[in-house]
Amino acid sequence: MYILGIESSCDDTSAAVIADGGLLLSNVIASQKVHEEFGGVVPELASRAHQQNIVPVVDTALRRAGIDKHQLSAIAFTRGPGLLGSLLVGTSFAKGLSLGLRIPLVDVNHLHGHVLSHFVKRMPDDRVPEFPFLCLLISGGNSQLILVRNYNDMEVLGATIDDAAGEAFDKCAKVMGLPYPGGPHIDRLAAEGNPKAFRFAKPHIPGLNYSFSGLKTSFLYTLRDAVKQDPDFVTKNQADLAASLQATIIEILLDKLRKAVQQTGVRTVAIGGGVSANSGVRRAVADFCTERNLEAFIPERAFTTDNAAMIAMAGYFKYLDSDFCRYDQVPFARVTV
Ligand code: KG4
Repeated sequence: MYILGIESSCDDTSAAVIADGGLLLSNVIASQKVHEEFGGVVPELASRAHQQNIVPVVDTALRRAGIDKHQLSAIAFTRGPGLLGSLLVGTSFAKGLSLGLRIPLVDVNHLHGHVLSHFVKRMPDDRVPEFPFLCLLISGGNSQLILVRNYNDMEVLGATIDDAAGEAFDKCAKVMGLPYPGGPHIDRLAAEGNPKAFRFAKPHIPGLNYSFSGLKTSFLYTLRDAVKQDPDFVTKNQADLAASLQATIIEILLDKLRKAVQQTGVRTVAIGGGVSANSGVRRAVADFCTERNLEAFIPERAFTTDNAAMIAMAGYFKYLDSDFCRYDQVPFARVTV
């Protein structure tokens, strides 16, 4: 069995092929550089770049997998959430290919893809999580704590009520004058800084929900006041600011993760989404699990950002359930788990 996955929800065009059991045969990602000068993703430009990339990306994925398109069993694609124009490119392409090859079409919720990325295998005997497990899904658009009971049974226990963790990284990085997306820059600078140099506000939100907008405001005001005294404040304190910001975000994330583990009693914790590429987050979650004798699943960095391997994986499970997509289905910009 071979499943082709197609991902085009934001600014990465990706195609991947997985074989039976989730064995990854190829995962091709074309990133779009065109947005850098605008300080964020420009939807119109993203859709156009997807149109340029989609055919060569799918072609390369099939070639690297060493298979012909006629050997495919199904086409899985990201139906949402994401940018509608971007999603339309992947959706239309997937529909066309599925019709042309006369094989089933499977729609995938992008967030399910992130959660199920832990089942993608590089080698047949790679370790995968056992159900139930908790997944901390942290990206530029989402911050959620998800109880994963099965491939097709997920419950959001908590989510952000305002900004996502990735937005906190990116918006604070912007205030520091760093390029977009700022998360990786903060990560790099934080490695050289003192995480206790500055203190920023932390939210007091009941339950398992997150909030990051207060931290963003506190960070902005700290810098604004300090720059009045010393115009070179940010340049002089770049590493300490980054380290302190990252440490605060990690504390906020771990505080609710701790509560979720207590409430659910689950013994396995996974992380996913773009922010799970952060070195400090990865270390903190790994340490958190070691201290409590929990099993940790920290994804390979290639699977933290948008990729079609996770879409093919989620599609594989739906394919096994014969859970197919009709041709009149449309993409959706917003959806939860
Ligand atoms: O999952 P993702 O690729 O897509 C969106 O949801 O948009 O996540 C992108 C987010 C951005 O906010 C980016 O700054 C953040 O993930 N990110 C990081 C790191 N790498 C990516 N944040 C902190 N540290 C990193 N190393």
